[in-house]
Amino acid sequence: MQEIYGVRANTQKSQVYGYDARLYYSAQQLSVKTSGFNFLFKASASLTCIDREQHAFKRKVLSQALTQVNMKSFEPPMLENVRILMSDVLEDDPSDWSKPYDLSVTFQRLFADIMADTIFSSRWDMQTSEAKRWILDILPLGTSGLHAAGHMILALKLRIEQLLLPKTMRDVRRFLALSREQCETRLNKQASGASCQDLFSSVLRASDLEDMGGKGSSQTFTMNDLVAESGLLIVAGGDTTATAITATLFYLLRYPKIFRQVRDEIDSAFARHHTDNVEVVTIGPALSNCKLLEACVEEALRLSPPVSGLLPRQVLQGGLLVAGRWQVPAGTDVGIPSYAIHHSEVYWRHPNRFKPERWLQKESQDDRSVFMPFGVGRTSCVGKQLAYNEMALVIARILWTYDLKMIEGSQRYGENGISGGNGEWGRRNPDEFQTRDVFTSSHNGPLVRFRKR
Ligand code: HEM
Repeated sequence: MQEIYGVRANTQKSQVYGYDARLYYSAQQLSVKTSGFNFLFKASASLTCIDREQHAFKRKVLSQALTQVNMKSFEPPMLENVRILMSDVLEDDPSDWSKPYDLSVTFQRLFADIMADTIFSSRWDMQTSEAKRWILDILPLGTSGLHAAGHMILALKLRIEQLLLPKTMRDVRRFLALSREQCETRLNKQASGASCQDLFSSVLRASDLEDMGGKGSSQTFTMNDLVAESGLLIVAGGDTTATAITATLFYLLRYPKIFRQVRDEIDSAFARHHTDNVEVVTIGPALSNCKLLEACVEEALRLSPPVSGLLPRQVLQGGLLVAGRWQVPAGTDVGIPSYAIHHSEVYWRHPNRFKPERWLQKESQDDRSVFMPFGVGRTSCVGKQLAYNEMALVIARILWTYDLKMIEGSQRYGENGISGGNGEWGRRNPDEFQTRDVFTSSHNGPLVRFRKR
């Protein structure tokens, strides 16, 4: 893993991330300096940036804003949206079991609202209004389309991608327009003098808005960079966390004994015997000490990683020797799909079972160093801490407030309702939360009823 993704690996992000049409066919193919998902976004975002110096700058700006110290500043918008979930969405009939809710949909809306609020100080109101819900429909195709576009270099060059994948490319274009609109709305807010305590304010402080279309230096965000970063954050900041929390609750509902233990842990961490007011459940040491809850999130991320496919890396001049056995020539894309390595018997005991205790043991029989839901090395996820805090907070508040009941067999994947355990290759495990790789993940269900405790 370190040979491919490590800080000293003889690799760089693959051209799939940041294809530059002008350079691709030139002799500099392996030393591309400018990049981004350039062809479509005309600039690079942190995740798609191949150039090391430029990437280091973008990453530093984001990671400084996302330190553990700053976490508390993101809490008010998170809580506001969780309160909306509880007061306006789930509160059908407080005395009895609610109607069934599709957790995939419920959390996609919640985390889209949290993302818009914490990153752009913007209200999407997905939870309570239909108006912006179309965004959730275009995200899977938009994201997989951007990913696919990276593999269709010739089609992009000949500008025939619209003919090959008309619907996908239409959603990609809508996604590009959304990213631009989101960015411009945020800039207008700034211009009107509003003070915004969001992630984007850190990015704006490092921006040069005079440079509307140009390349800029590697030490500033230009206007095109801002639009590209907005697009990345829209996907990275909400959708992945929604998948992880849906999977975690699926596993908790599938294993009622563990569910009860996690709930007891939360009740005792926030002294439920003194008060049952949910407002005591906040980010801080008490929540961080809920180690079983944390272990369940880790185990869900292992079994159902939200980014489950391989993150491609291009081998640089000199080639790469992998595992002391395979000599890979320069220019080849290599990578490790997290789903595959998370399910390998080489590294995990009973890899297909949900066993949160594996994360609590000091002497583990598992090789936890291959756990990679957030990627590895200098390009790994900068939002990881925010994601863990969001998940712990939302799960703790839900378990504090409700009993939950899952409708068996309701976690089904795809239009034909393929569920786990149906014998189809790759989907044989009924105990696994079923997802489909679209660079991030698409999924639906499970259907769950809620009742106030
Ligand atoms: C459970 C939730 C999440 C998962 C599983 C996840 C997963 C990942 C993965 C696998 C990467 C590396 C991609 C690569 O190397 O190609 C990544 C990068 C990134 N993620 Fe996340 N992510 C999550 C939440 C978040 C959140 C909440 C944010 C934003 C606030 C975020 C922002 C980013 C950014 C900006 C990068 C690019 C980092 C860089 O290139 O230096 N992610 N994420």
